[in-house]
Amino acid sequence: MHIREIATAPISGQRAGTSGLRRKTRAFMAPLFLENYVQAIVDGTGGAAGKTYVLGGDGRYFNAAAIQIILRILAGNGAARVILGQGGLLSTPAASHLIRKTGADGGFILSASHNPGGIEADFGLKYNMANGGPATEGVTAAIVAASEKISRIRIADSADITLDALGEVTLGAMQVRVIDPVDDYLALMEELFDLDAIAALIAGGFTLRFDAMHAITGPYARALLVDRCGASPESVMNATPLPDFGGGHPDPNPIWAADLMGLMMGPDAPDFGAASDGDGDRNMIVGRGCYVTPSDSLALIADRAHLAKAYRVGLAGVARSMPTSGAVDRVAAAKGIACHETPTGWKYFGNLLDAGQITLCGEESAGTGSDHIREKDGLWAVLMWLNIIAVSGQSVADLMAAHWQRYGRNYYTRHDYEDVDSAVADQLMADLRARLDSLPGQRFAGLRVTQADDFAYADPVDGSLSTGQGLRLCFADGARAVLRLSGTGTSGATLRIYLEQLVTAPGDLHHDAGDVLAPLAAAVDAVAGITARTGRSAPDVRT
Ligand code: G6P
Ligand code: ZN
Repeated sequence: MHIREIATAPISGQRAGTSGLRRKTRAFMAPLFLENYVQAIVDGTGGAAGKTYVLGGDGRYFNAAAIQIILRILAGNGAARVILGQGGLLSTPAASHLIRKTGADGGFILSASHNPGGIEADFGLKYNMANGGPATEGVTAAIVAASEKISRIRIADSADITLDALGEVTLGAMQVRVIDPVDDYLALMEELFDLDAIAALIAGGFTLRFDAMHAITGPYARALLVDRCGASPESVMNATPLPDFGGGHPDPNPIWAADLMGLMMGPDAPDFGAASDGDGDRNMIVGRGCYVTPSDSLALIADRAHLAKAYRVGLAGVARSMPTSGAVDRVAAAKGIACHETPTGWKYFGNLLDAGQITLCGEESAGTGSDHIREKDGLWAVLMWLNIIAVSGQSVADLMAAHWQRYGRNYYTRHDYEDVDSAVADQLMADLRARLDSLPGQRFAGLRVTQADDFAYADPVDGSLSTGQGLRLCFADGARAVLRLSGTGTSGATLRIYLEQLVTAPGDLHHDAGDVLAPLAAAVDAVAGITARTGRSAPDVRT
């Protein structure tokens, strides 16, 4: 087979964000854009010669064509082997698991996660390392450097392979093994959870609804919840993956999973509801009439994980991203285990997990996971909750009520201002950053600032320092706000305001979060001038 060298030059816009490279689909489809980036990954990671890779994506528009291009470039660079999900499909958690299980050198995951799909929407490519986790900052920097001096692409002159047939094919000297995307993941879940207990719960009349949002988890959820645990087929809704996710926004939160939320808050609600995102790493948990915030979900799981098979021995430690609420900190303190606070981005959990310092971790952005892989895992969170419910015999609402009673409640909400002019957003952050030292002691909309800083993280395992990770404002009486700019958007800037208020009085645990947090939101607006600077009177999304 002939290997061609195509002359090329750096293309702008190839710097990865919070989670891989995300761009408009048309940008990815532009001549040599994907080719350049894949070659830069290869060059930035010491070449592909003799290496094994895992490859798959969430099935969004351009997935299959991109897979063929990546295969040809890997063959062109001398890779030995590619393990490919049938149909070009793999959820992010399944890909992470496969990298670890097969001892692969890395993996290419095609997804823009929860961003919409389609030719006019978003596409993405994420490179994961041999530990199964997202590329660290160091590796990402090496890829950026390679993309900035790229001069040639090595590509095999070969025809497309069939993505649908299981088994082995060759692309020149490179072996491609097409595997079932679900099997290995299913076996892993069987090791971690007592699926028989969940099956018995369901056989006893417990009802559930899982919204796959026409994204990757449909086949996984069917295999686990319907085929293995005996839930009725209609328990998995929007179960067929579609290239444009049915025109929806595959983000599992109360806004984008509105149908499921409506059902769960209505008179015919099943006992349990859940959803996952485009590539299957995020989750939403909701009980009958009871939405669980991701921060609370992490705290509850940390408290009760010992009820699930693989976590019986207890937890080595836990971690949360800085904007995630402090609910899990209170559980960790009670259990006498460490709780680490990391910057936003799953990649920051990798070292702690590898070093055995933590067992569980999670983020406010609907990510929860454990040391079983090196990505967050949507269906893992669903099974963890079902396992906890099966063993405890308590409903979602009862579990949360008992949790708050014991630990207090960290009322929590996030306000997003989307597609803000980048210059305005940067200026807002820069101005606030410059004033941080002067804020403690001052009052804004009646609330007194006690502490203000720009979050920096020193990784305890490799000593690396990450600065400028978000502005933290602590107020008197357990209120905290965080301001940061999203690193996952594809147009303009998204300003995220995270609001949290700890309440421990037993009579005040069941108020409306929006009401409790309204004074804090007003104080943040007074400090940062959000309305005045952006011209927006309200956030676009509240989660
Ligand atoms: C992705 C990452 C998460 C991160 C989230 C929000 O899902 O995997 O680790 O928390 O994006 O990132 P953003 O920069 O948009 O707030
Ligand atoms: Zn995702």
